[in-house]
Formats: sequence, structure tokens, C-alpha cells
Amino acid sequence: MFDPISALKDFIRHPSVSADPAFREGMHGARDFIAGLLGRIGFAVEIVPTPLHPVILAERTGPAEWPHVIIYGHYDVQPADPLNLWTTPAFLPEVRGDRLYGRGAADNKGPLLTHVAAVARLLERRPDLPLRITFMIEGEEEIGSPSFPGFLAAHAERLRKADFVLLSDTGSPREDQIVITCGLRGLVLFDLEVTGARTDLHSGLHGGVLRNPIQALAELCASLHDADGRVNVPGFYDDVLDVHAWEREQLARFGQSAEEYRAFLGIPAFYTAKGFTPFEATRFLPTLEFNGIGGGYQGEGTKTVIPSKAFAKISCRLVANQTPEKIRALLYETIAQRMPKDVTFRLVDQHSGQPYVVVPPDRSNTPAGQSPVLASAFRAADAAITEVFGRAPLYLREGGSVPIIADIKRVLGLDSVMMGLFLPEDNLHAPDESFNLNVMRKGMAASERILEGVAVGGRRS
Ligand code: BES
Ligand code: MN
Repeated sequence: MFDPISALKDFIRHPSVSADPAFREGMHGARDFIAGLLGRIGFAVEIVPTPLHPVILAERTGPAEWPHVIIYGHYDVQPADPLNLWTTPAFLPEVRGDRLYGRGAADNKGPLLTHVAAVARLLERRPDLPLRITFMIEGEEEIGSPSFPGFLAAHAERLRKADFVLLSDTGSPREDQIVITCGLRGLVLFDLEVTGARTDLHSGLHGGVLRNPIQALAELCASLHDADGRVNVPGFYDDVLDVHAWEREQLARFGQSAEEYRAFLGIPAFYTAKGFTPFEATRFLPTLEFNGIGGGYQGEGTKTVIPSKAFAKISCRLVANQTPEKIRALLYETIAQRMPKDVTFRLVDQHSGQPYVVVPPDRSNTPAGQSPVLASAFRAADAAITEVFGRAPLYLREGGSVPIIADIKRVLGLDSVMMGLFLPEDNLHAPDESFNLNVMRKGMAASERILEGVAVGGRRS
């Protein structure tokens, strides 16, 4: 059995930033590292090429009557900038106290290795375990998984025979309160570019005869929310899934106060849609955000210019049953209607992802026909988490997105059991990202029990 903590350090040392072509070598290194590790613990490893970053498929096969789990993870990470805000360099992992610091420690290298280590230990203990396991590890999660739908379609025949997917790429509020994530938000992203005059202009010579594109953009952006924090786009909320009573009940046991959360964010007050608490809003409501805005002079001192262009980067988080296609169309229509007619504009599509929900068994409204192996996996996860972490898990939808989970459901018909292993203080996507090593240890024990429980349950449990 390998040492999971030194393996995690080795994994982090490969700077696998999928967004930046300069990190080609780091992508290769991370991929070869995890493929090599899976080979060493007895898996048949395949590196499947895609138009961009390859997917790793690693299999432990067996008779068709054994349950079959796909374990998902991603070997790519977010860019580490701003580098100067890291206490120690992002790709030189360091243990301080209970935490291992480094880019990707929590998202997703630590949680992924947690499952790999659990599998290694379980198979050492029970070499004859009646369980088929396929690791499916991609390298494009942080850039919207452009190659993944094509990969899924090409391998659907084989992958759809599995029973369910297990992963840890979501969060929990505290070390002693693990969440089983029952939903993920979707996404739709686009750029909006506004043009005024054909070139930058002297504001003395031409000021007073045209609308500044920064003004037009600001007016447009300001119109997209109302005073109550709701998105002001007709039809935006039409398809939003109603919140089940059991979901509100789970959330009530979350154990974080709104006041603590406000202080954690460092904001003077919340701006949350009426009728929803902040904790409900991030899970159950869609959003529209400005991720970046620019135009005109940004340098030292002053410049008396009327810029030719202004731009904004806009994204929406979607909830079940919204679709990126419909929301994109609504937004583009609204923007076209509201944009002042004395400027021109251009919309550039960026990527998108469908939202996802799964109803765990033993809740109201469990869908008929849910796979018995999925139900046994949820029960095994509930028991394992209760035992190992000392408290029953909460079942909650999550605000973040892992869009391929909905693709897997659509293309393969498989649902996912998501054990949330990162904590609010892990600094995902930010400087000083870290993974709590106690969570890693307990996560390993829990994963081991879940997999063993599914194996023992068999295919018709
Ligand atoms: N692991 C995260 C998703 C996540 C974050 C789940 C926080 C729960 C809580 C994942 O790697 C991620 O960051 N996804 C991106 C989406 C992607 C298409 C860029 C996200 O949610 O912004
Ligand atoms: Mn992730």
C-alpha cells in the first residue's frame, strides 16, 4: 500500500493547469503519475486521447453479476495566480499542522487520491472482493470539460453497464458534518462586448455627441437584477425546481448561522432573493454574475478618452430543471432589447453545463425504477459516514458545478453518489489551497466501507 500523503505531494508537484497551454508538461506529468499509481495497484490502465487532454480509464473487471462502480475524479487544477499571495509556492506542497497546502490539494487531487488509497487498501485486505471498479479521471474539469461529451459518447456502450458513479468533488460544512451532495448547479457563460465609435476618441473634441460604451454596458448590467436580488430577466425562474420539504429540513440541521456566514464573507449585509435564506439561495436558486468588466484606460494617472469598446464576462448558475440553452436564449433576447440603440454589441458564447439532481432512497419522491445498487450505495455511504465521521450525513444540493455529472446521467443513465470532502477553509480556486489530512484519513476509511458495502450487497440488493 502506498503512502497517501506523500502520493498527494507527488501529485501536486505536477502543475496540471488545464486552462493554460504553457502547462502542457504538468498536465502530462499529473496524468502519468495517476495512471502509474493505478497500474501499480493492479488496474488495467488506458490513456484515452481526446481533442485536448486525455481521459484515464482504469479497470478492475469481473463477472457481470458483481456490482460495478465508476469512480470519477479530475487531474487538472485551476491556475495558481496570484502567485504572490501564497504562503509557500503553489506547486511545492507542504504540510502545516493538519493540512497539506498546494494548488489542487482539495480540488481535486486530495479527494481523488482518497478514493484511490481506499481502493488499494480494500483490495489488499480483500483481493477477491466481488466488485468491478472503473476509475474515470479527466483533465478538463476546470475548463468546462469540452472533450468529455465526445469521450462519453464514444465509450457509452461499455460504461453504461456500470451501476453508479462515486466521487468526491464537492464540499461539506465541517469535519464532523459530511454532506452527501444531491444536486449540482449548471452553468452558462458568455462575453458581452459593446462598441461605441470605431476608435478611441479625444473626449474634448467629441465628448457630448455619443454614448460612451462603458455607460451603455453599465446601464445594461445594472438592469439585470432587481432591488431584491432577483435576476431581472423575464422567464428566468420559470423552470426552477421546487424545493422539497425534506431539503429544507436537512438544511435546517446545517448548523451554521447566517451571521457567522456574513462575517466569514466580510460583507456588511446579504443581498439575497426574498423568501430564501443565504444557505438556501446558493443551493436552490439560479444566479447571474459579472465575473469581469473592463474597457477604457486602466493605467496610471488620467486619460481624457472616450473608449471605443467595453466588455463584461457574465455567467449564470442554473438549478434543476433549467437548461443552459433556454437561459442563454432568454438572456440574449433581453440584452438585445435593452441595449441602447446608439451602440453596437456582440455576444460570444462560452461553455455551459446542465444542472443535476439525484433523490436519495428513503426520502419522499424517490423515483420509481431507481437502481438497487445505487440505493445500496447510498445506504452504505450513510452508514460509513455516520460510523467514521461520528455523525449522520446531510443530504443537500450544492451551489458549485461539475457539469459532466449531468452528462453522465443523460448519456449513460447513471446517477452519482457524491461524498463532500472539502471544507469551507480549503480555499478552492484561491491562494493557499489546502486539504485537511484528517478528512483525507476518514474519507479513506469511509470510501473503503462504502465500496465493501456495495460489493457485499451484490447486484440485486
Ligand atoms: N470541485 C468544483 C465544484 C465545486 C465547487 C463543488 C465548490 C462544490 C463546491 C469543480 O472543480 C469546479 O470548480 N467546477 C467549476 C465548473 C467548471 C465548469 C469551471 C465551478 O463550479 O465553477
Ligand atoms: Mn473539482
